Amino acid sequence: MHDKLRLGVNIDHVATVRNARGSAYPDPVRAARIAEEAGADGITAHLREDRRHITDADIEALMAALTLPLNFEMAATDEMQAIALRHKPHAVCIVPEKREERTTEGGLEVAREENRLAHFIAPLRDAGCRVSIFIAADPRQIEAAHRIGAEVVELHTGAYCDFHAEGRLDDRDSELQRLTDMASFAHSLGLEVHAGHGLTYHTVLPVAALPQVMELNIGHFLIGEAIFLGLDASIREMRRLMDKARA
Ligand code: PXP
Repeated sequence: MHDKLRLGVNIDHVATVRNARGSAYPDPVRAARIAEEAGADGITAHLREDRRHITDADIEALMAALTLPLNFEMAATDEMQAIALRHKPHAVCIVPEKREERTTEGGLEVAREENRLAHFIAPLRDAGCRVSIFIAADPRQIEAAHRIGAEVVELHTGAYCDFHAEGRLDDRDSELQRLTDMASFAHSLGLEVHAGHGLTYHTVLPVAALPQVMELNIGHFLIGEAIFLGLDASIREMRRLMDKARA
Protein backbone atom coordinates (compact mmCIF):
# COMPACT_ATOMS: atom_id res chain seq x y z
CA MET A 1 0.00 0.00 0.00
CA HIS A 2 2.88 2.38 0.72
CA ASP A 3 4.81 1.65 -2.45
CA LYS A 4 5.69 4.63 -4.59
CA LEU A 5 3.02 5.49 -7.13
CA ARG A 6 4.41 4.66 -10.59
CA LEU A 7 4.08 6.97 -13.58
CA GLY A 8 3.68 5.44 -17.02
CA VAL A 9 4.20 8.05 -19.72
CA ASN A 10 2.15 7.44 -22.84
CA ILE A 11 4.10 8.59 -25.90
CA ASP A 12 1.42 7.97 -28.56
CA HIS A 13 1.05 11.63 -29.37
CA VAL A 14 4.74 12.14 -30.09
CA ALA A 15 4.02 9.75 -32.96
CA THR A 16 0.83 11.69 -33.80
CA VAL A 17 2.89 14.83 -34.39
CA ARG A 18 5.47 12.91 -36.40
CA ASN A 19 2.83 11.25 -38.56
CA ALA A 20 1.14 14.59 -39.29
CA ARG A 21 4.03 15.27 -41.69
CA GLY A 22 5.18 11.77 -42.50
CA SER A 23 8.64 12.70 -41.20
CA ALA A 24 11.01 10.74 -38.97
CA TYR A 25 10.67 13.25 -36.12
CA PRO A 26 9.76 13.78 -33.34
CA ASP A 27 11.01 10.33 -32.40
CA PRO A 28 9.00 8.41 -29.75
CA VAL A 29 12.15 6.59 -28.60
CA ARG A 30 13.81 9.92 -27.83
CA ALA A 31 10.70 10.92 -25.91
CA ALA A 32 10.87 7.68 -23.94
CA ARG A 33 14.50 8.37 -23.00
CA ILE A 34 13.62 11.87 -21.80
CA ALA A 35 10.65 10.45 -19.87
CA GLU A 36 12.96 8.06 -18.07
CA GLU A 37 15.35 10.88 -17.14
CA ALA A 38 12.38 12.91 -15.89
CA GLY A 39 11.21 10.21 -13.52
CA ALA A 40 8.84 7.98 -15.49
CA ASP A 41 8.66 4.39 -14.26
CA GLY A 42 7.38 2.98 -17.52
CA ILE A 43 6.47 3.82 -21.09
CA THR A 44 3.03 3.19 -22.54
CA ALA A 45 2.29 2.90 -26.25
CA HIS A 46 -0.96 1.98 -27.98
CA LEU A 47 -0.65 0.23 -31.34
CA ARG A 48 -4.03 0.97 -32.86
CA GLU A 49 -5.53 -1.11 -35.62
CA ASP A 50 -5.27 1.84 -38.04
CA ARG A 51 -1.68 2.72 -36.88
CA ARG A 52 -2.70 6.37 -36.61
CA HIS A 53 0.11 7.14 -34.17
CA ILE A 54 2.38 4.33 -32.93
CA THR A 55 3.53 1.99 -35.70
CA ASP A 56 4.86 -1.57 -35.69
CA ALA A 57 8.34 -0.13 -36.25
CA ASP A 58 7.94 2.05 -33.13
CA ILE A 59 7.15 -1.01 -31.04
CA GLU A 60 10.24 -2.76 -32.43
CA ALA A 61 12.38 0.29 -31.70
CA LEU A 62 10.98 0.77 -28.20
CA MET A 63 11.50 -2.87 -27.30
CA ALA A 64 15.11 -2.66 -28.51
CA ALA A 65 15.97 0.69 -26.92
CA LEU A 66 14.03 0.90 -23.69
CA THR A 67 15.43 0.21 -20.28
CA LEU A 68 12.06 1.05 -18.70
CA PRO A 69 9.26 -1.51 -18.88
CA LEU A 70 6.92 -1.14 -21.87
CA ASN A 71 3.18 -1.22 -21.29
CA PHE A 72 1.75 -2.26 -24.67
CA GLU A 73 -1.85 -1.10 -25.11
CA MET A 74 -3.85 -3.10 -27.59
CA ALA A 75 -7.30 -4.19 -28.63
CA ALA A 76 -8.32 -7.81 -28.06
CA THR A 77 -7.71 -8.91 -31.65
CA ASP A 78 -5.75 -11.86 -33.05
CA GLU A 79 -3.39 -9.50 -34.88
CA MET A 80 -2.47 -7.63 -31.68
CA GLN A 81 -2.15 -10.82 -29.68
CA ALA A 82 0.37 -12.15 -32.21
CA ILE A 83 2.39 -8.92 -32.04
CA ALA A 84 2.38 -8.99 -28.23
CA LEU A 85 3.46 -12.61 -28.16
CA ARG A 86 6.32 -11.83 -30.54
CA HIS A 87 7.66 -8.95 -28.42
CA LYS A 88 6.63 -10.14 -24.95
CA PRO A 89 6.51 -6.64 -23.42
CA HIS A 90 6.57 -6.29 -19.65
CA ALA A 91 2.86 -5.44 -19.61
CA VAL A 92 -0.13 -5.61 -21.90
CA CYS A 93 -3.19 -3.44 -21.36
CA ILE A 94 -6.32 -4.56 -23.17
CA VAL A 95 -8.44 -1.62 -24.31
CA PRO A 96 -11.61 -1.32 -26.37
CA GLU A 97 -11.06 0.18 -29.79
CA LYS A 98 -13.41 1.69 -32.30
CA ARG A 99 -12.00 2.92 -35.57
CA GLU A 100 -14.04 6.13 -35.60
CA GLU A 101 -13.23 7.24 -32.04
CA ARG A 102 -10.70 9.99 -31.37
CA THR A 103 -9.35 8.24 -28.30
CA THR A 104 -10.30 5.24 -26.14
CA GLU A 105 -13.75 6.43 -25.20
CA GLY A 106 -14.97 3.89 -22.68
CA GLY A 107 -13.78 0.91 -20.73
CA LEU A 108 -13.74 -2.65 -21.99
CA GLU A 109 -17.00 -4.63 -21.71
CA VAL A 110 -15.40 -7.55 -19.92
CA ALA A 111 -18.61 -8.85 -18.39
CA ARG A 112 -20.19 -9.35 -21.82
CA GLU A 113 -17.19 -11.11 -23.35
CA GLU A 114 -15.84 -13.00 -20.38
CA ASN A 115 -15.25 -16.32 -22.06
CA ARG A 116 -13.52 -14.93 -25.13
CA LEU A 117 -11.33 -12.60 -23.06
CA ALA A 118 -10.32 -15.35 -20.64
CA HIS A 119 -9.01 -17.36 -23.61
CA PHE A 120 -7.50 -14.26 -25.17
CA ILE A 121 -5.36 -13.25 -22.18
CA ALA A 122 -4.24 -16.74 -21.13
CA PRO A 123 -1.36 -17.00 -23.66
CA LEU A 124 -0.26 -13.45 -22.84
CA ARG A 125 -0.02 -14.35 -19.18
CA ASP A 126 1.76 -17.60 -20.05
CA ALA A 127 4.29 -15.54 -22.04
CA GLY A 128 5.06 -13.58 -18.87
CA CYS A 129 3.21 -10.35 -19.70
CA ARG A 130 1.41 -8.61 -16.84
CA VAL A 131 -2.13 -8.34 -18.16
CA SER A 132 -4.19 -5.29 -17.35
CA ILE A 133 -7.77 -4.58 -18.39
CA PHE A 134 -8.93 -1.01 -18.99
CA ILE A 135 -12.41 -0.67 -17.52
CA ALA A 136 -14.93 1.79 -16.19
CA ALA A 137 -15.21 2.01 -12.40
CA ASP A 138 -18.02 -0.54 -12.35
CA PRO A 139 -18.20 -3.51 -9.96
CA ARG A 140 -19.51 -5.85 -12.72
CA GLN A 141 -16.49 -5.15 -14.88
CA ILE A 142 -14.06 -5.48 -11.96
CA GLU A 143 -15.51 -8.84 -10.95
CA ALA A 144 -15.38 -10.06 -14.54
CA ALA A 145 -11.76 -8.89 -14.92
CA HIS A 146 -10.93 -10.83 -11.78
CA ARG A 147 -12.71 -13.97 -13.01
CA ILE A 148 -10.89 -14.01 -16.36
CA GLY A 149 -7.52 -14.00 -14.58
CA ALA A 150 -6.29 -10.44 -15.14
CA GLU A 151 -3.66 -9.28 -12.65
CA VAL A 152 -4.40 -5.58 -13.03
CA VAL A 153 -7.36 -3.33 -13.73
CA GLU A 154 -6.81 0.17 -15.02
CA LEU A 155 -9.72 2.39 -14.02
CA HIS A 156 -10.86 4.87 -16.69
CA THR A 157 -10.55 8.42 -15.33
CA GLY A 158 -11.91 10.05 -18.53
CA ALA A 159 -15.39 10.84 -17.20
CA TYR A 160 -13.98 12.35 -13.99
CA CYS A 161 -11.62 14.57 -16.05
CA ASP A 162 -14.33 15.57 -18.54
CA PHE A 163 -16.71 16.61 -15.75
CA HIS A 164 -13.92 18.69 -14.22
CA ALA A 165 -13.19 20.40 -17.56
CA GLU A 166 -16.91 21.13 -18.09
CA GLY A 167 -17.25 22.63 -14.62
CA ARG A 168 -19.79 19.95 -13.61
CA LEU A 169 -18.32 19.66 -10.15
CA ASP A 170 -21.07 17.56 -8.53
CA ASP A 171 -20.77 14.99 -11.32
CA ARG A 172 -16.98 15.12 -11.04
CA ASP A 173 -17.13 14.46 -7.32
CA SER A 174 -19.58 11.55 -7.78
CA GLU A 175 -17.26 10.04 -10.36
CA LEU A 176 -14.29 10.48 -8.03
CA GLN A 177 -16.26 8.73 -5.30
CA ARG A 178 -16.95 5.88 -7.71
CA LEU A 179 -13.23 5.65 -8.55
CA THR A 180 -12.42 5.68 -4.83
CA ASP A 181 -14.89 2.90 -4.02
CA MET A 182 -13.92 0.79 -7.00
CA ALA A 183 -10.17 1.11 -6.37
CA SER A 184 -10.85 -0.27 -2.93
CA PHE A 185 -13.15 -3.02 -4.23
CA ALA A 186 -10.66 -4.15 -6.91
CA HIS A 187 -7.86 -4.17 -4.35
CA SER A 188 -9.98 -6.30 -2.00
CA LEU A 189 -10.22 -8.94 -4.77
CA GLY A 190 -6.43 -9.02 -5.04
CA LEU A 191 -6.23 -7.00 -8.27
CA GLU A 192 -3.50 -4.41 -8.74
CA VAL A 193 -5.15 -1.07 -9.47
CA HIS A 194 -4.00 1.45 -12.07
CA ALA A 195 -5.77 4.53 -13.39
CA GLY A 196 -5.57 6.83 -16.36
CA HIS A 197 -7.05 8.76 -19.23
CA GLY A 198 -7.39 12.51 -19.53
CA LEU A 199 -5.40 13.32 -16.37
CA THR A 200 -3.88 16.81 -16.09
CA TYR A 201 -2.09 18.83 -13.42
CA HIS A 202 -5.57 19.97 -12.33
CA THR A 203 -7.12 16.54 -11.94
CA VAL A 204 -4.27 14.25 -10.91
CA LEU A 205 -4.06 14.94 -7.15
CA PRO A 206 -7.22 13.16 -5.88
CA VAL A 207 -6.59 10.14 -8.11
CA ALA A 208 -2.92 9.94 -7.12
CA ALA A 209 -3.99 10.10 -3.47
CA LEU A 210 -6.04 6.88 -3.69
CA PRO A 211 -3.91 4.47 -1.67
CA GLN A 212 -4.77 1.37 -3.72
CA VAL A 213 -3.68 2.95 -7.01
CA MET A 214 -0.19 1.74 -7.92
CA GLU A 215 0.27 3.31 -11.35
CA LEU A 216 -1.05 6.21 -13.43
CA ASN A 217 -0.77 6.23 -17.21
CA ILE A 218 -0.71 9.74 -18.63
CA GLY A 219 -0.04 10.93 -22.16
CA HIS A 220 -1.96 13.56 -24.08
CA PHE A 221 -1.72 16.34 -21.50
CA LEU A 222 2.01 15.76 -20.92
CA ILE A 223 2.85 15.86 -24.61
CA GLY A 224 0.72 19.00 -25.03
CA GLU A 225 2.34 20.69 -22.05
CA ALA A 226 5.75 19.79 -23.47
CA ILE A 227 5.10 22.32 -26.24
CA PHE A 228 5.27 25.06 -23.61
CA LEU A 229 7.59 23.62 -20.96
CA GLY A 230 9.62 20.96 -22.74
CA LEU A 231 8.97 17.27 -22.19
CA ASP A 232 11.35 16.89 -19.27
CA ALA A 233 9.76 19.73 -17.28
CA SER A 234 6.24 18.65 -18.19
CA ILE A 235 6.82 15.16 -16.80
CA ARG A 236 8.76 16.38 -13.75
CA GLU A 237 5.84 18.57 -12.72
CA MET A 238 3.42 15.63 -12.98
CA ARG A 239 5.81 13.49 -10.96
CA ARG A 240 6.01 16.23 -8.31
CA LEU A 241 2.23 16.44 -8.03
CA MET A 242 1.90 12.66 -7.76
CA ASP A 243 4.51 12.56 -5.00
CA LYS A 244 2.77 15.44 -3.23
CA ALA A 245 -0.56 13.61 -3.36
CA ARG A 246 1.05 10.55 -1.87
CA ALA A 247 3.07 12.30 0.84
N1 PXP B 1 -4.63 4.54 -20.12
C1 PXP B 1 -5.21 3.97 -21.20
C2 PXP B 1 -5.66 2.55 -21.08
C3 PXP B 1 -5.34 4.66 -22.41
O1 PXP B 1 -5.93 4.07 -23.47
C4 PXP B 1 -4.82 5.97 -22.50
C5 PXP B 1 -4.89 6.72 -23.80
O2 PXP B 1 -4.19 6.06 -24.77
C6 PXP B 1 -4.22 6.52 -21.36
C7 PXP B 1 -4.17 5.79 -20.18
C8 PXP B 1 -3.64 7.89 -21.38
O3 PXP B 1 -4.64 8.83 -21.60
P1 PXP B 1 -4.24 10.33 -21.91
O4 PXP B 1 -3.45 10.31 -23.17
O5 PXP B 1 -5.55 11.01 -22.04
O6 PXP B 1 -3.43 10.81 -20.75
